[in-house]
Amino acid sequence: MRLAILLSGRGSNFAAIHDAIARGVFDADIVAVISNRPEAPGIARAGEIGLPAHVIDHKKFATRESHEQEVLRVLAAAKPDFIALAGYMRLLSASFIAAYRNRILNIHPSLLPAFPGLDAQQQAFDYGVKMSGCTVHFVDEHLDAGPIIVQRAVEVRDDDTAETLAARILVEEHVAYVDALVRLSTRRFRIEGRRVIFEE
Ligand code: GRF
Repeated sequence: MRLAILLSGRGSNFAAIHDAIARGVFDADIVAVISNRPEAPGIARAGEIGLPAHVIDHKKFATRESHEQEVLRVLAAAKPDFIALAGYMRLLSASFIAAYRNRILNIHPSLLPAFPGLDAQQQAFDYGVKMSGCTVHFVDEHLDAGPIIVQRAVEVRDDDTAETLAARILVEEHVAYVDALVRLSTRRFRIEGRRVIFEE
């Protein structure tokens, strides 16, 4: 599997994916790591590890389209089979998504379709749900809405804060993202309606 990673910040999901590949959990090459933020710890780490790390700073482009064109240019050269969004804080245009239909993955820190958008852990905490979790899904034209590949549940405890809940969800995110990529790298799948079905 040729894998590209897009991130904007901390990069713990990227690190978990990289570690799993390094440990031989699944067979993949990270062919590009792209950050729209020069100061993202995740892109510094990618560089230290010796991966192809690209800062494509959206603030240096006049338009959203021109920034995205540069991201697409780097991806076209890297030829990824799949693109993993790992805390990438930019919306992708419909044409970007169409170019990589069912090949772009995202991770979201709630059990979708509950609590899409920003601060999902805080939203879940404030709502008072007793279970939350995380979702790895294909990216479609709608926010946090594409077909679901893997979910993992996390109990909300009475003594939680939004921060302690987020920390426990993050542990499961790392497992879920690797699980999704293991499946995609080893099994065929089909999509029926919204359902992602892995074949034996
Ligand atoms: C994670 O909580 C992920 O679910 C969300 O953004 C955060 C990224 O964290 N999409 P990290 O940069 O992978 O540590």
